[in-house]
Amino acid sequence: MSAELKQVTHIDNVRLGEDEKSVVIIDQTQLPNRTEYLTLRTAEEMYDAIKLLQVRGAPAIGICAAYSIYALARQWEVQDSAAFAEKFHGQKEYLNSSRPTAVNLSWALNRMEGVVAANTGKPVTEILDSLGKECRAIHEEDIAMCRAISEHGLSLIKEGDGILTHCNAGPLATSRYGTALGPLFLGKERGMNFRVFSDETRPLLQGARLTSYELQKAGIDVTLICDNMASIVMKNGWVQACFVGCDRVAANGDAANKIGTSGVAILAKHYGIPFYVLGPTSTIDLNCPDGDHIPIELRDPDEIREKWYAEPMALPEVKCYNPAFDVTDHTLIAGIVTEKGICRAPYTESLAALFDEKH
Ligand code: MRU
Repeated sequence: MSAELKQVTHIDNVRLGEDEKSVVIIDQTQLPNRTEYLTLRTAEEMYDAIKLLQVRGAPAIGICAAYSIYALARQWEVQDSAAFAEKFHGQKEYLNSSRPTAVNLSWALNRMEGVVAANTGKPVTEILDSLGKECRAIHEEDIAMCRAISEHGLSLIKEGDGILTHCNAGPLATSRYGTALGPLFLGKERGMNFRVFSDETRPLLQGARLTSYELQKAGIDVTLICDNMASIVMKNGWVQACFVGCDRVAANGDAANKIGTSGVAILAKHYGIPFYVLGPTSTIDLNCPDGDHIPIELRDPDEIREKWYAEPMALPEVKCYNPAFDVTDHTLIAGIVTEKGICRAPYTESLAALFDEKH
């Protein structure tokens, strides 16, 4: 394994501060030009870090939120367990309101609150111990899930294949290997070579700033393209599979991911290219029946009008529509790759089976 590769897949994008009263993240908004770490101490700093995409990617948001609520709870001087539970609930709801689409956020926070509920009446110091174990477990489990997803994803591609990806579902967005990019890192470790096409991913350029950075650093052959170039790359015969991450998968297999993903899936269908969604079971929301029920985040119009440019590139009064995610219809998805295996249509059955105790 090359030193560069080891570095990327072992990056500490989110961790608990040494005092356990803070959370340390890589500020993803500064990459690839600067690697800066931020120490988050207050609930507002934690909320803003998620909202402003300093930490982003569905699993990373969940891990950050779990560490955050624990770090905050360690700062409180509350001895009564009922008062502790009430305060915990208020802060959990606040952090949970930072972004709506990635279900990992509420999933992780609910897991943490479940620990408080299971320890009702116990001394607060004991509750804190259990919370510390839970947020570390969420992180450890994500590392294992990413590794398993990478193995399953790698079984879908072969030496020399061209893979197109959209947004960033690599180590920065998750833990270690990532989801959609995981098979590529794992394959590289095993001496395999792929040609990756990374959509730049307008408007916030996660593909340009983060995906091409991660792959290039790892020595993987990556070509950065503008989003509107995916069609020609596919037409040229350069893409054998599309691998994308997900922010919430509904019970019927409809999958929300970064805005533009559904367009890639439609193109892939046109060119007969399999389109795979890769994500941990923590991103599957069986309470959500279909894509129409997935909340889609709307973001600041200035991200379209003026971000990245020395001067605004549109009139300040021009109307903008800036949804952060879209939903890919389950009929366009060749498989949903989870840590437990690859689900195929009909997804209502294959996804439910993942949560079946007997599975
Ligand atoms: O707005 P972002 O950058 O948080 O969007 C992230 C994505 O769309 C990722 O593809 C998704 O969270 C999967 S990360 C494994």
